[in-house]
Amino acid sequence: MEKVLDVKGLCKTYVVNKRQNNVLKNIDLTINEGEMVSVMGPSGSGKSTLLYCVSGMDRPTSGEVSFDGKDISKLNDKKLAEVRLDEMGFIFQQMYMMKNLSVLDNVILPSVRSKKNKESRKETERRGRDLMKRMGIDDIAENDINEASGGQLQRACICRSLMNHPKVIFADEPTGALNRSTSDEVFNELLEINREGTAVMCVTHDAKVAAKCSRVLYIMDGSIHAEIKLGKYDGTESELRTRERTLNNWLMEQGW
Ligand SMILES: Nc1ncnc2c1ncn2[C@@H]1O[C@H](COP(=O)(O)OP(=O)(O)OP(=O)(O)O)[C@@H](O)[C@H]1O
Ligand SMILES: [Mg+2]
Repeated sequence: MEKVLDVKGLCKTYVVNKRQNNVLKNIDLTINEGEMVSVMGPSGSGKSTLLYCVSGMDRPTSGEVSFDGKDISKLNDKKLAEVRLDEMGFIFQQMYMMKNLSVLDNVILPSVRSKKNKESRKETERRGRDLMKRMGIDDIAENDINEASGGQLQRACICRSLMNHPKVIFADEPTGALNRSTSDEVFNELLEINREGTAVMCVTHDAKVAAKCSRVLYIMDGSIHAEIKLGKYDGTESELRTRERTLNNWLMEQGW
């Protein structure tokens, strides 16, 4: 299987008030094409930092991050920004939506900004609308950002992350601010996208979300402490219950 992401010896150190904080310590990690991996661990263990460093949103202090066969830690800022825009999708809890643009304009922004995109504005808008329709939010296309609910905005984020057909989507607590049923709906959309072939790396505190992933990594004090393979989720309730039980037992062993 092709590796989408291949990380070797990743370290990240922050220096605050002359004090060193070694947040990530020698992390090795691979994500294969089409995989759905979640990252769990205590607050402050380095999950978000890991996601930022492997997705080129931040620079590792040392180590190698290969994305689709190329070492992105060696790229300059401009090239790195192009890789992020053209080949990766991002979903974060703070949604970074532009307040002066409509929901649709926010959704299509990655394609509007991409030099790779040769479509007309109309075609891009049509694709944006199609994605919004698929997520069940086409009725708010023209709304302002503040005229949409949290769950609708989170779906809009998924649409936006898909606009440039990414190889991988990075998500940091994509359902963190949502209630149970909206969280399930939003995450099921991500699962569907993953089934169609896009790899997903997702940080979550929610065992019900992680139980739907094929693999779960547990981070403690900046190292990958343990990993469990759950295999592809078939979408049934009974299988989900079994997976949740397995995952919860495993999480307890990790001290969760
Ligand atoms: N930009 C930064 N500058 C300095 N220290 C930082 C920075 N970002 C994160 N840290 C520190 O790195 C450590 C890990 O933070 P990180 O945000 O990766 O944790 P996390 O596992 O995502 O936690 P949570 O579950 O609360 O989101 C923390 O001690 C944090 O204070
Ligand atoms: Mg975090």
